[in-house]
Amino acid sequence: MERDIEEVLINQEKLAERVGALAEEIASDYEDDRSEHVWDELTIIAIPTGSLIFLADLIRCLPLKMRIRLVTVSSYPGRSTSTQGPELVSQIPEDLGNQYVLIVDDILDSGKTIQFVRELIGAQGPAVMRTCVLLRKKIASAMAVDVDYVGFDIEDRFVVGYGLDFDDYYRNLPEVVTLRPEVIG
Ligand code: IMP
Ligand code: MG
Repeated sequence: MERDIEEVLINQEKLAERVGALAEEIASDYEDDRSEHVWDELTIIAIPTGSLIFLADLIRCLPLKMRIRLVTVSSYPGRSTSTQGPELVSQIPEDLGNQYVLIVDDILDSGKTIQFVRELIGAQGPAVMRTCVLLRKKIASAMAVDVDYVGFDIEDRFVVGYGLDFDDYYRNLPEVVTLRPEVIG
């Protein structure tokens, strides 16, 4: 696995530091919003599998009453490295009306996944719907999507590690890395 790595883009220390800062921002916005409204819990909608490591680290920095729901969307089947268009694979929770919802995903690329999930949840009338991604590619489609919290803006390269995969491999790498071109094929 190590020998497939081309370059380490974000190391463990930077990831931990940034995730902590994102959690502080999220918690502070949540407290500000709460003074005006009545909800007393946060609902996190996480999009697996790529977001799971990020989610695990983020929620442990968030000392708030919360529920976590997973919504599975498939867009990069198997070894493809460009989106084929999002498709809902799991059921979507249907009790999000008047809730405070935070959508968490790993990376914003074409933006289609986030927009797709936002439309499904938005239709239920949540009181607040915010969006958080660990990574955003510096490309027009991703930058055009309005998200509330972004961990890192990265160059337009295919990345793996810290939850992100190629053909379901490399998710357990603790850093965000690029792969050698001969590995991706
Ligand atoms: P989008 O719908 O094109 O924004 O893509 C979002 C999903 O595609 C993410 O949740 C990832 O699972 C996957 N994805 C996009 N870019 C990458 C990448 O560079 N590496 C691994 N997965 C990616
Ligand atoms: Mg994903």
